[in-house]
Amino acid sequence: MLTNTAMPNQNQLRNTITKAYRMDENACLERLIAQATLPADQVAAIRETAIKLVGETRAYKKKQSKLDALLHQYDLSTEEGIALMCLAEALLRIPDNSTMDKFISDKLSTVEWKNHLSRQNPLFINAATYSLLITGKIYAPVINQEKTYLTSLQRAISKIGATVIRPVMLQMMKAIGGQFVMGETIDAALQRAVKQEQMGYRFSYDMLGEAARTDEDAKKYYASYVEAIDAIGKSATQTTPAENPGISVKLSALSPRYEYTHRESVMQELPPMLLALAQQAKKYNIGFTVDAEEADRLDLSLDIFEKVFSDPSLQGWEGFGLAVQAYQKRASFVIDWLADLARKHQKRIMVRLVKGAYWDAEIKVSQQYGFSGYPVFTRKNSTDVSYLACAKKLLSQPDCFYPQFGTHNAYSAAAIMAMAGTTPFEFQCLHGMGRPLYDQIVDKAQFNKSCRIYAPVGTHKDLLGYLVRRLLENGANSSFVNALADDDTPAEKIVYDPVARIAALSDKPHPRIPLPRDIYGAWLNSTGIDLSDETVLNATRDQMLKSISEKISAGPIINGQTAYNGEAQPVKSPADHDKIVGYVSKATEENVEQALSAASNATKSWGNLPVEERASIMERAAEIFQDEMPALAALLSLEAGKCIPDCLSEVRETIDYCRYYAYRAREDLKPVALPGPTGEYNELTLHPRGVVACISPWNFPLAIFSGQVIAALVAGNTVLAKPAEQTPLIAYRAVQILQQAGVPADALQLLIGQGRVVGAKIVADERV
Ligand code: FAD
Ligand code: 2OP
Repeated sequence: MLTNTAMPNQNQLRNTITKAYRMDENACLERLIAQATLPADQVAAIRETAIKLVGETRAYKKKQSKLDALLHQYDLSTEEGIALMCLAEALLRIPDNSTMDKFISDKLSTVEWKNHLSRQNPLFINAATYSLLITGKIYAPVINQEKTYLTSLQRAISKIGATVIRPVMLQMMKAIGGQFVMGETIDAALQRAVKQEQMGYRFSYDMLGEAARTDEDAKKYYASYVEAIDAIGKSATQTTPAENPGISVKLSALSPRYEYTHRESVMQELPPMLLALAQQAKKYNIGFTVDAEEADRLDLSLDIFEKVFSDPSLQGWEGFGLAVQAYQKRASFVIDWLADLARKHQKRIMVRLVKGAYWDAEIKVSQQYGFSGYPVFTRKNSTDVSYLACAKKLLSQPDCFYPQFGTHNAYSAAAIMAMAGTTPFEFQCLHGMGRPLYDQIVDKAQFNKSCRIYAPVGTHKDLLGYLVRRLLENGANSSFVNALADDDTPAEKIVYDPVARIAALSDKPHPRIPLPRDIYGAWLNSTGIDLSDETVLNATRDQMLKSISEKISAGPIINGQTAYNGEAQPVKSPADHDKIVGYVSKATEENVEQALSAASNATKSWGNLPVEERASIMERAAEIFQDEMPALAALLSLEAGKCIPDCLSEVRETIDYCRYYAYRAREDLKPVALPGPTGEYNELTLHPRGVVACISPWNFPLAIFSGQVIAALVAGNTVLAKPAEQTPLIAYRAVQILQQAGVPADALQLLIGQGRVVGAKIVADERV
């Protein structure tokens, strides 16, 4: 669990990337605005081109798939859109009919489909809406059967309804998924590509599958890449990787432990696999691009990329590529580092610049883990600014890069064409998206630019992650493709210079996306430790190792004093019985008696303290738990045998308990005036119960132990805390911290000991 491995030395450019991980958004954007600003006349020309592209794209509307229109009608700002997305994502994976029915019922019967009926809608949208509406109604009673008074006839109708409608729903959801998939097998996809290749399109095939959970998964995905490279390679007829079809790979598909904390093993296992695939791609002279995934994988992906790119066996081949996500604050620094790498090896890199497909997840993960900031921008326009700045950087270094621009946004595309001039580059779009736009751009008579289609291959089983990203992208009201589908918004409104918009804002972060620590508003979120940030990881590891160098000697805490009774027992780590974590003395019957009388004597002094003071003590405790997080997590890991990320989460939960209960106590324990007749005043006040026994299990030995103690204390009760027999040391530290924060020695007593001695006695005592 805890190892003392040194991280590698990184050059200055890598350090700059690391420092920018969650950097201040304002500072980051100031630089990018300067880099992305173009002369006014060029901006005007770009806008004009983009407006024209939008106009033509809309005129193509007849070619637009019905599904595009459906996804626009049911976008994710509506409950119904979300219901449909959930269905599409999950329905095909549900194995049995009865669960399927419950799921359909749950999703369809609770939302208002009728709001989507309108004379202005195309007929098929209204038809689809009617069927969803009726399905919702038919399904509704199926789940509520027990509660409602359905006649047997009604029940029969709903049963027939389910049998008829279930396959239709499945078909509909298959169609939604199918929109984004090129073929179930690589051969089928290659065959389907022929017609589009004749129009001037190129392809990069993506074998669906990511985030391998087991070695077996990873082996399966690896084999599918090997097979696909052979098939694509055999179909390649051109002489350069830029002209040939290529393949995209996701590193998360190749290893179930593609995580920064597993850097050492990942660096041994992944680069040889990636190198073997790259060598195979080199043999056919086709392109081979590493996709960009979650932000916490970026550092690791750069290490892997560097190792493979530098391998002498790949000399002379310029088909190796990396996707860079402009929504990340680190994007432009990554490009600087890649340029340096390309120069060092005198070999160009294919860089696919995208905005990034995991935005919603990045925001939520940062909030969930209480990180110091976000790795991504919080406004869509800021990402667009970064995209332009990065594009300029790529285009200005043709000796280092073959730039590939993945976008479906007409303004971004027009800006790239204007900035590129005669510099070689290609556009890229996703299969099932952006064709009406790119049919114009690849058209020799119009823009005559190259475009490569990213073409997913596989079955619904492996589609989940990819499909959710596409549905989010198409359904988000901030997204260009969504705005494009809405004829009511004039082209002039959806096409504008993002640089001017962001430059005009004095405070650039989105006001409705507060920093992770502020998401609750009324109380502070606890701060997490980001184990994918090398600087943070190293500092945390040092603090953890230092903290465990001294062994704790714990015992019952009676009136603030540790009672060392008899010979202390060693506490052994459940993960390694040879490892002694500390020593513990158990409470005697006399200790229990002393604790009982001290706690019952203290009920008045503690209970009469104003709630504000008790709440402030808990908030002070939160600060101490926060400062001590690495040491507490290390102790938890050793004593309870939990893995470190879980230990960090547990310390955070403890901090959240302190702040949440402080907040709730202030809110709930305020006197409440009751209504009454004139001249009479009645007030409701809540009072402590007296002595509370808090007995906790071993599985969350800090959070569950502390949570109930804190709740009881803040409400004015005094506490006898009895931790699980397996985990006394962490409880000992928790009580020390609470007392250090200001909980009086008599208000909180720690009774370490056996359930039958301590637990039985306190539970039976009438003062408790
Ligand atoms: P736009 O509508 O102009 O931009 C939408 C994008 O803006 C969102 O996707 C998001 O990135 C960003 N955004 C939205 N809201 C906000 C906000 N509030 N704050 C900040 N930013 C916001 N994605 C990957 O992550 N990794 C890949 O390897 C990858 N490969 C791709 C390959 C190809 C060929 C293509 C075309 C796309 C690929 N993508 C990849 C997906 C890509 O990230 C999305 O398609 C892209 O972001 C959509 O941008 P757009 O210019 O088409 O649309
Ligand atoms: C994704 O998988 C296209 O790589 C991008 O979302």
